[in-house]
Amino acid sequence: MCGPAGAAAVKSLVAVFVAAAGVAAVTRHPVTVVVSFDGFRLDYIKANWTPNMARFQKASAAPPYMRSTFPTKTFVNHFTMATGLYSEKHGVLDNYMFDKHYDKMHYTYEQFHYDDSVVPIWIHNEINGNGRYSGVMMWPGSEFPYQDKYPTHIQKYNKSMLWTDRVDIIMSWIKDENKPANLVYAYFEEPDSTAHLKGPDSQETRNQIVRADATLKYILDQIKHEKLENKINLIILSDHGMDTVTYDRMIHLDEYVSNTTYKSIISGPNAFIHPNPNKFDEVYKNLSKVANTSRTFNVFKQNQLPDRWHMKNNTRLIDIIYLLAKPEYAFWDTYFEFILNGTTKEKFKIGVHGYDNEEPQMRTIFMASGPAFKKSYSAMQFDNVDLYPLICRIEGLTEPSRRIDGTMQGVEQLLSVGNAPTFMGPILGILSALLLHTIAPSL
Ligand SMILES: *[C@@H]1O[C@H](CO)[C@@H](O)[C@H](O)[C@H]1NC(C)=O
Ligand SMILES: *[C@@H]1O[C@H](CO)[C@@H](O)[C@H](O)[C@H]1NC(C)=O
Ligand SMILES: *[C@@H]1O[C@H](CO)[C@@H](O)[C@H](O)[C@H]1NC(C)=O
Ligand SMILES: *[C@@H]1O[C@H](CO)[C@@H](O)[C@H](O)[C@H]1NC(C)=O
Ligand SMILES: *[C@@H]1O[C@H](CO)[C@@H](O)[C@H](O)[C@H]1NC(C)=O
Ligand SMILES: *[C@@H]1O[C@H](CO)[C@@H](O)[C@H](O)[C@H]1NC(C)=O
Ligand SMILES: [Zn+2]
Repeated sequence: MCGPAGAAAVKSLVAVFVAAAGVAAVTRHPVTVVVSFDGFRLDYIKANWTPNMARFQKASAAPPYMRSTFPTKTFVNHFTMATGLYSEKHGVLDNYMFDKHYDKMHYTYEQFHYDDSVVPIWIHNEINGNGRYSGVMMWPGSEFPYQDKYPTHIQKYNKSMLWTDRVDIIMSWIKDENKPANLVYAYFEEPDSTAHLKGPDSQETRNQIVRADATLKYILDQIKHEKLENKINLIILSDHGMDTVTYDRMIHLDEYVSNTTYKSIISGPNAFIHPNPNKFDEVYKNLSKVANTSRTFNVFKQNQLPDRWHMKNNTRLIDIIYLLAKPEYAFWDTYFEFILNGTTKEKFKIGVHGYDNEEPQMRTIFMASGPAFKKSYSAMQFDNVDLYPLICRIEGLTEPSRRIDGTMQGVEQLLSVGNAPTFMGPILGILSALLLHTIAPSL
């Protein structure tokens, strides 16, 4: 799956050459930087709002969209991208979920350790050794150790830290004299957070979209400043899209089923319902009745969850009834009460995600540039579970001991000829890399 990269040896040669030419000393391995802008919806990219992203996308290997994993939530998708596993295997089924005592858990060690054999790629990279070091900037789930290990370079989530400071720190990891990072995963919490409160079409959200665009420019400027354009593979992506919900599309479950008969964790369009002892069938039947008449949401027992969501085979769903709202609908909860407090029912217009991963509004961006990727290449769409094997291939990592769900099939298309596993590949790789280096500085 993560087949040996003959290209890695070639890249080492190029690295030596580049170092001799007086640019920053970096790892002898290819360098890959994965940047996630939370909730950056596909159609946020527009030439007049986000000129840098539009230009970068055009110059990149980029599919029309990347498919998010279900449920289309932040922790689920960042952990899928980090592990190459669907939610049923890595066990993170939402941001907020039940622990084994049916109490709420949110961003705890336990939530990210459903199965101790699951190893994020930043740990797998370092296990591969040979001078490989990972840097993780605020990526959800990175604050916990896995098999007792942390990445060499890590910055825990801190909303207050300037985005440019985050980029500067990432560059310092790549240039670290003793332990230069060959793999970096970086997370930016917008435009998701503002879109939740103000809606995806608001001016406030647009400001955050523009801010993400300016941050991409800053990243590209830093890479150029260090003369690492031909060394760094830069991937820009998001975890899910965003839908607009108005007050009249709120589903008030309390009005239909007595909330003293179950415990629930509700977030946007997703709900875990844990009925009291001996109440499972009654609660299920009443919820189904409401679902049948209102047609605003669907009700699932664990074994009724569609196979294509790759969610149902998980012990965290035992004795749970799962609800999923239809697009543009959501379940009312205290978070929405908080938002309503600052506005009126008429003006209430918010951002929500978590819907079926086949919904167009949940699609994500993906664009990749650098020596490993084809240039200006219109690719076919693929699933974000495939990011893991893609990174393994580029960085020359071994197959992980635990079988992953992602495959190379959907992402092989993105790779430049030097990274394709062909006989001529490595030779063409050397030639094009040397040639590019010679002409690039004058561009
Ligand atoms: C978060 O970042 C800000 C700005 O860089 C800094 O002042 C603050 O001390 C940081 N907080 C923590 C807990 O590290
Ligand atoms: C339960 O439902 C009632 C309305 O039937 C509501 O007033 C109350 O806040 C709800 N309790 C909880 C814990 O959600
Ligand atoms: C389910 O519906 C029946 C009939 O409307 C009602 O009597 C019962 O209280 C409901 N059960 C719950 C848990 O709300
Ligand atoms: C809801 O609709 C489904 C499909 O039509 C049906 O099988 C089920 O019996 C209905 N449930 C209730 C409680 O009416
Ligand atoms: C469900 O998961 C268990 C382990 O978590 C695995 O042994 C089993 O094969 C899986 N079943 C299916 C149908 O995928
Ligand atoms: C609503 O806002 C007011 C004023 O800001 C505040 O005092 C109150 O606690 C808020 N209520 C809720 C339910 O958030
Ligand atoms: Zn998110």
